Amino acid sequence: MSKSFDVVVIGGGPGGYIAAIRAAQLGFNTACIDEWKNSKGGPAPGGTCTNVGCIPSKALLQSSEHVEQAQHHFADHGINLSGVQVDLAKMLARKDTVVKQNNDGILYLFKKNKVTFFHGRGSFAAAKDGAYEIRVAGAAEETITAKHVILATGSNPRALPGAAFDEERILSNDGALRIGGVPKKLGVIGSGVIGLEMGSVWRRLGAEVVVLEALPTFLGAVDEQIAKEAARAFKKQGLKIELGVKIAEVKANADGVAVSYTDSNGGAQILECDRLIVSIGRVPNTIGLNGEAVGLKLDDRGAIAVDDDCRTNLPNVWAVGDVVRGPMLAHKAEEEGVAVAERIAGQHGHVNFNTIPWVIYTSPEIAWVGQTEQQLKAAGRAYKAGTFPFSANGRARALGDTTGMVKFLADAKTDEILGVHIVGPYASELISEAVVAMEFKASAEDIARICHAHPSLSEATKEAALAVDKRTLNF
Ligand code: FAD
Ligand code: NAI
Repeated sequence: MSKSFDVVVIGGGPGGYIAAIRAAQLGFNTACIDEWKNSKGGPAPGGTCTNVGCIPSKALLQSSEHVEQAQHHFADHGINLSGVQVDLAKMLARKDTVVKQNNDGILYLFKKNKVTFFHGRGSFAAAKDGAYEIRVAGAAEETITAKHVILATGSNPRALPGAAFDEERILSNDGALRIGGVPKKLGVIGSGVIGLEMGSVWRRLGAEVVVLEALPTFLGAVDEQIAKEAARAFKKQGLKIELGVKIAEVKANADGVAVSYTDSNGGAQILECDRLIVSIGRVPNTIGLNGEAVGLKLDDRGAIAVDDDCRTNLPNVWAVGDVVRGPMLAHKAEEEGVAVAERIAGQHGHVNFNTIPWVIYTSPEIAWVGQTEQQLKAAGRAYKAGTFPFSANGRARALGDTTGMVKFLADAKTDEILGVHIVGPYASELISEAVVAMEFKASAEDIARICHAHPSLSEATKEAALAVDKRTLNF
């Protein structure tokens, strides 16, 4: 007889593994199926995020930032180093160790929470007697039965037409995280999150980096004032970003890559580089799921079609994370996973899409929550803005990193916080206060009246809130 579960989760990325843990916590007999293999063919749960996304990219961002500091900024602190050498193999091995710690951590959490883990591909076999038969194809093949199914199969990198990823010359995020030697010249197509993060890593390690972006505006989703400040900082660092280009052709051979494109003035150009990262977005992944066997509906983007509560068109089948609509972020996937497990238990799981933070882990970091100034203008909403520069913050001066600012946007009448935007040191950490504030529908004045530790970067947040009412104390 096949093994039978209350809940089977297909996909063990942040959406799937967190959904499985929460379902088990709620008392369901739960299984999670994930097919990711480590270099030895063993299980490597954690999905894109753990294996080729959030975690390894942040490991390399940290290592390369240390290089940048040692080479260019330690001297400002009176620390003179000469002949700083980078052991790239060791740096990449450290990144792999960090990834493995996270893989192992998830396997431990499955054990701790009594989630049954299957290493292999999960696919629908049939819907039968009010349940679903799921085929698991791993080292062995077996069929298990599920009352509820949560699909969390993630996303894959989008390739440029005619330029398939070979991970040698034309790299997705996967290849971009394991280039064996620092390229002399690195091309990047797409100045989105991956392009900027991975471009920063390899620039800090010594590559000349040229980023080609189709849109005429830089980081269009980011508040314009913040994007401008970031663009200035990236330019100063030597990151070359060309906007408004149209890629014509990409040719790769053993020596390098040639990208033919039209620049924003209509001129024909060729970018020759040693390697090319293509980071032009990601596509939802339903490969091998065999949704057709049960009539699973996809939307016109190829994502699994879901309602606001992550219900698919099939009874008791749910979908979360990158494979459904909404931002492709690990924490969004996690929140949906938790909410779905709670809904299965009859609770009222909830995800507030208005308070999902975004972070770009460049230097300076960029982080935001809520609406941008351009969105408020377009919506005709009356608002007040307040900004405070890190150059006026004592802790930032002590750190030696005074780039950027905190910006508050609040309703003109009620003072409710509508958006907070940060470019500068530790923006990724600072944004949490704004998320909490917005979740509790705080006003800018609420933040302005709260005691913030001195000296801390968070004082810039308080001051930006004070700036909404034009009463900063330190600027
Ligand atoms: P995934 O993490 O993609 O996991 C899906 C899992 O399902 C995979 O393990 C896959 O092998 C498995 N799977 C698929 N089909 C099957 C099947 N049929 N059977 C069994 N297993 C299957 N987000 C952030 O919030 N912060 C960041 O800093 C960040 N950095 C990123 C950096 C890079 C370079 C990239 C590429 C992405 C980054 N992201 C970041 C995005 C983040 O990785 C994704 O939003 C997140 O991983 C989505 O989680 P998920 O669970 O939906 O899917
Ligand atoms: P992205 O959507 O962030 O950026 C893609 C960029 O490529 C856009 O600026 C787009 O205009 C441009 N583009 C698209 N087609 C193009 C073309 N033909 N020629 C030139 N430019 C083109 O996508 P990216 O960077 O691939 O990342 C995918 C997703 O992964 C992100 O949207 C994000 O959800 C997630 N991610 C999150 C991170 C974080 O939270 N820190 C880090 C990295 C990825």
